[in-house]
Amino acid sequence: MDIQQNISKLREEINNHNIRYYVHDNPTISDSEYDNLLRELEELENLHPEFKTPTSPTQRVGAVPLSKFKTITHRIPLLSLSNAMNENEIVQFDSQTKKGLGIESDIEYVAEPKLDGLAVELVYENGVFAYGSTRGNGFTGEDITQNLKTIRAIPLKIKSDIPVPKLLEIRGEVFISHDDFKILNKTQIEKGKQPFANPRNCAAGSLRQLDSSITAQRPLRIFCYAPGVIEDADISSQIEFLNTIPKWGFPVNPLIEKGVGFDFLIEYIRKLENQRNSIPYDIDGVVFKVNSFSQQDELGIRSRSPRWAVAGKFKSQQVTTKILDIEASVGRTGAITPVAKLKPVAVGGVIVSNATLHNQDEIDKKDVRIGDTVLIQRAGEVIPEVVKVILDKRPNNTTPYILPNECPVCEHPVSRPSGEAVSRCQNLECPAQIKKGIEHFVSKSCMDIDGFGEKLVDQLVEKKQIVCVSDIFNLTTEQLSGLDRMGEKSAQNIIEAIELSKHTTFARFIHSLGIRSVGEHASKVLERSFDANITKLQNATVSDLISIFEIGEIMAQSIVDFFNDSTNIEVIKRCLESGITFETVEQIIESTITNKIFVFTGSLEKFTRKQAREMVEKLGARASGSVSSKTDFLVAGPGAGSKLTKAKELNVTILTEDEFLMLVKSIQTFH
Ligand code: IVH
Repeated sequence: MDIQQNISKLREEINNHNIRYYVHDNPTISDSEYDNLLRELEELENLHPEFKTPTSPTQRVGAVPLSKFKTITHRIPLLSLSNAMNENEIVQFDSQTKKGLGIESDIEYVAEPKLDGLAVELVYENGVFAYGSTRGNGFTGEDITQNLKTIRAIPLKIKSDIPVPKLLEIRGEVFISHDDFKILNKTQIEKGKQPFANPRNCAAGSLRQLDSSITAQRPLRIFCYAPGVIEDADISSQIEFLNTIPKWGFPVNPLIEKGVGFDFLIEYIRKLENQRNSIPYDIDGVVFKVNSFSQQDELGIRSRSPRWAVAGKFKSQQVTTKILDIEASVGRTGAITPVAKLKPVAVGGVIVSNATLHNQDEIDKKDVRIGDTVLIQRAGEVIPEVVKVILDKRPNNTTPYILPNECPVCEHPVSRPSGEAVSRCQNLECPAQIKKGIEHFVSKSCMDIDGFGEKLVDQLVEKKQIVCVSDIFNLTTEQLSGLDRMGEKSAQNIIEAIELSKHTTFARFIHSLGIRSVGEHASKVLERSFDANITKLQNATVSDLISIFEIGEIMAQSIVDFFNDSTNIEVIKRCLESGITFETVEQIIESTITNKIFVFTGSLEKFTRKQAREMVEKLGARASGSVSSKTDFLVAGPGAGSKLTKAKELNVTILTEDEFLMLVKSIQTFH
């Protein structure tokens, strides 16, 4: 197979994986295998730039940042929807529709979740993604083509067994799922950045980036739900449209249903409202659409919304309440977050008495004051937030709220570096930071000390029995059983749990130290790279650290800063002296194949793929799933096919299974 064929085969393979993942929700490879394929394609295209095309999956990222967005006029305006606020209004919608069509019999409808994201329009010319835009004011929107291209669920080129229209306009909603949002915010916090307020704002902000490399880092998804102009295609109903577009590679919401009459509509909205909390992304209601396109045409539109569709609203997740106070809370890194203390109120079935105000900039923007009546909302699983102040209800004598200049816990001065939204208490001995640091240290993913809860930490820190984390290991049953609500037995259990925690892994211990930017995964990377040896890590320089795959400059600097602090060194020393031991990580032997990349192909007969991977990893090499210019060795078993051909083309050293085993053995005996 020649290079060009190879490239198009890889592109097709990647596109098919996208469709499996986003359209059919049925991936067949892991994320890292996907990344490998993409990297392989990228390398081949770099070696052969003459074969690059704008629709290649490698072209989703890398566009030059814009200075501003162009405006795009929609061929057909993107209308809004009128609302049905309750079941009566849904029944009314059905009877008006019947009247409009002049029929008595039940009408066929399509019922869809109303996604709470951002509406976009995608335009395809001869099956190729030409451009895409935001809804804007409905008539014109912004040209966000570069950003939309970064969304893998959006096909760049349509491949299909059924004919693709010459001009195809598809509308849909871009959104972020709850799980992805949580991961994204965790990373934001680990990087010392401000978390996003909710998935919708984050999706909106991401689509409006002038630099699409930022958009590419956000986990944006899309469900498509409406046609714009579609030339020369014979689609006569909404359900036919929704059944056709997945064949062109567009994701459609699996919760969509077709049915007849108003009882179907009522049943659907009740069902979705009940299911709402288990749906993995935000929805704010349902959309009911008359199914038949000819009936839709007959009904027509009002000024801004169609007569053939309506949005069925869920009961509000927004309510008004009063701000009794604003408290500043101190996090593990000293970050000060203002929290509104609310007059308790039920929102979507949960009693809420706190809402986050994020930071001073947010407070200023919304002008939130103590005593104000505010509209608050719960979005998905996110902490409630203040949407806006009801100014009409503001009492006299309120003053703008300003975060204190001193830490509310230790009274040390607070500082806010220019350009940052977060203010921090700089006192490393601040009891609030110490408490949060200890809660982190004992938590499940760190030292995992069972039973060591918040109340216990509070008491121990207040009594100064714990000043830093190493003090945990000197606690005695007597000290603990003297505390509030702590009997002898529970005290003993905790001491046992502390003992048990001492046998841990290097990665857990590093994670538990709370080094800024160093999360769970980075700690594992450090464990491998420094052979679970703390002295080696302690002596590492920024340049040593950034040479490690997956460790960037900010993290490297933060690690070096951490180990330059003599208090930190002392705490680590005391922890280790108390008897902490690390499970041994497999020793990596420095050898002639250290850092080399191996690919195994064909049906291996002398060892399994897993054994092969373990053998090379022990010798400091890596096993990869695909052949590229970076591959050093290809180990080919019987029946090897395209990978072998490619390896030959790229001049990769090719070994039989026996030759590989001999190589491994020779290195092992040598060491
Ligand atoms: S259809 C006239 N379907 O709702 C047809 N819209 O108020 C209007 N939306 O801006 C679009 N989920 O962002 C349609 N399944 C769905 C939708 C949906 C969410 C949003 C869309 C639009 C707004 C209309």
